[in-house]
Amino acid sequence: MRPKIVAEYLPQTNEVADEFLKRLKKIRTPNGEVLDLNTEAAKWNLKTTLRNFFEMRMGLFENETNGFFDVRQLIEANDAILHNATRLYYTFPLYKYIRTSEWNGMVEGADYLFGTLQKLLDETIDEIQTLSVTNQLPDDKYCFLRHLLARSSGLPYREWGMLAMDVVFDGINATVLSLNNIVLLDDPKYFVSPEKFLPERWLRDGPAVDGEVGNPYVLLPFGNGPRMCLGRRFAEQELYVMIAKIVQNFRLEWLDSVDMGQLYRSVMVPDRSARIKFTDRH
Ligand code: HEM
Repeated sequence: MRPKIVAEYLPQTNEVADEFLKRLKKIRTPNGEVLDLNTEAAKWNLKTTLRNFFEMRMGLFENETNGFFDVRQLIEANDAILHNATRLYYTFPLYKYIRTSEWNGMVEGADYLFGTLQKLLDETIDEIQTLSVTNQLPDDKYCFLRHLLARSSGLPYREWGMLAMDVVFDGINATVLSLNNIVLLDDPKYFVSPEKFLPERWLRDGPAVDGEVGNPYVLLPFGNGPRMCLGRRFAEQELYVMIAKIVQNFRLEWLDSVDMGQLYRSVMVPDRSARIKFTDRH
């Protein structure tokens, strides 16, 4: 997506981030802690995605159920897929012979998540088509989905996922190749003291940590090349705006007695719910 198009979404990204801040202030305990912060952050993520891609203004923070889904169930389904997929990938593949609990957990999660999103996508595409044939579709509406539709060049959109799988698997005997990025990020060949929190190593003007080699291909969270993430600039905009607002508005203190660790769940996830105290700066 061109940066100019994504920039036009800034006002609504901003609006959702402001709502999130209000929500944090409202649900803080008298001690300033936001309970179940991970779920609150997941709700923000869902809300900003629905606003930017589906033009939906849902009160997800207050009402957890709507015509399409139950917010908590959707967040849990996503977690279930990541958690169970990791177990299925890296343990003896018993699921090929019997339906293990991990298999069932992944299928249930996937049915709920993809079923819900398909319904949402079907209705939105219908609306885009209706508005389009009646010449009522403004240029600045549904930009991301229209971009995807145009890119599919006549392919029914339900086929996209399968097409990608065919391309990936073709010629490599259906062997799944999974790149676990944390291995590279933990490698002293690329990072001096990889276990240390040294944010200056990420400064744009080259490695600010003595002896660090730096390699632009070691960290590619959005992939690279023609199939790289199409939502990258949206994801970055949403994260930068939300984090900047939090840091402008609050002083943050870690309340747990142990540091947060990471778990590998197909992606890296925190090993516990973040216990953070939010104190107003002003
Ligand atoms: C921090 C958030 C995100 C990360 C880390 C991420 C990461 C990725 C990665 C690694 C890929 C595969 C790239 C490859 O095959 O080389 C991908 C593909 C994709 N992502 Fe994201 N993504 C994020 C957010 C989003 C968002 C918000 C959207 C839009 C709703 C999105 C839409 C897509 C699409 C449509 C593709 C498929 C592109 C294609 O196959 O041509 N992503 N993403």
